[in-house]
Amino acid sequence: MLPAITWKKDRLVMVDQRLLPWKEKYLELITVEQVASAIERMVIRGAPAIGIAAAYGLALGVRNLSRGCDLEKEFEKFYRRLWKTRPTARNLFWALERMKRVFEENRKGGLAHLKRVLLQEARTIEKEDFEINRKIGENGAGLIPEGATVLTHCNAGGLATAGYGTALGVIRAAFARRKNIRVYACETRPFLQGARLTVWELWRERIPVTLITDNMAGWLMSRGEVNLVIVGADRVTRNGDTANKIGTYSLAVLARNHSIPFYVAAPISTFDFKLKRGEEIPIEERNPDEVRKIRNRLITLPDVPVRNPAFDVTPGRLISAIITEKGVLRPPFSREIRKIIHRTDSGNE
Ligand code: MRU
Repeated sequence: MLPAITWKKDRLVMVDQRLLPWKEKYLELITVEQVASAIERMVIRGAPAIGIAAAYGLALGVRNLSRGCDLEKEFEKFYRRLWKTRPTARNLFWALERMKRVFEENRKGGLAHLKRVLLQEARTIEKEDFEINRKIGENGAGLIPEGATVLTHCNAGGLATAGYGTALGVIRAAFARRKNIRVYACETRPFLQGARLTVWELWRERIPVTLITDNMAGWLMSRGEVNLVIVGADRVTRNGDTANKIGTYSLAVLARNHSIPFYVAAPISTFDFKLKRGEEIPIEERNPDEVRKIRNRLITLPDVPVRNPAFDVTPGRLISAIITEKGVLRPPFSREIRKIIHRTDSGNE
């Protein structure tokens, strides 16, 4: 399985996801600015993956400092730059906060020591994410029945994480148990994560996948051709409301209408224990040209007004279960999530 992001010979290496599946180009990043801009421009995307990238970004920033600099001030500058790259995925902020704690605990140890521990922490975040994905896969595989047709949206796969994936991790785990399953991948306008990335990932592993446009899901459900929906998440609030790629909410409404289970797969680092409900989640609005153009070609009038919210919020009441590394959460989510907050030392602040 190809890692979307990894540390190699003093550099942060990532595959340029904007070019997939046509071109497999790897970029080597060495500065905070390069990492921040890669997140903004979606060279790397997917909630856990951008968290990992941001952690490495901070490690790179400190790595490039020289003795005698104002450490606090420089660190704060890097932190703020990465903080404002994308607003919706909780994992970005979770990773930055975790790195900041390590910085504060070790700042008295000197620059060389800090360089070492920050890089070590970023590597640990990456490694842990992979293991968490495997666990999510294990926990969720039993929810996919033999012979099922699964519909997924966007890309919650190896490319969106340290590898393996959340929603695709569950699909991979079910497939590894030799279940005879099929996947419908929604193309995911406007950025086409489904058509470009999910299809590519599943195809490479010979997991049967069929591409559909986003507006075909309802028809296929009405004909009994979809047995369950599984998606990833960018942020889950304390009541189970879940932000994920734009179009997820429509699928949840459709699934409910057709009595089809709707599952979310997400690590605990995606949960925002500070937010009570979905309305509080900041939703990113991206460049209108992403909607006006496909692969740089206009598909409409150049100046037509456009909306381009990148995410929507699915209310917890439409979600059948949230699959995490700590187990499968069932409604009512508020109670289940409260138990997790109690078990997590300091919450995931
Ligand atoms: O805009 P993107 O491509 O970063 O959005 C990604 C998603 O919405 C994913 O479903 C989510 O981040 C979960 S990835 C495991």
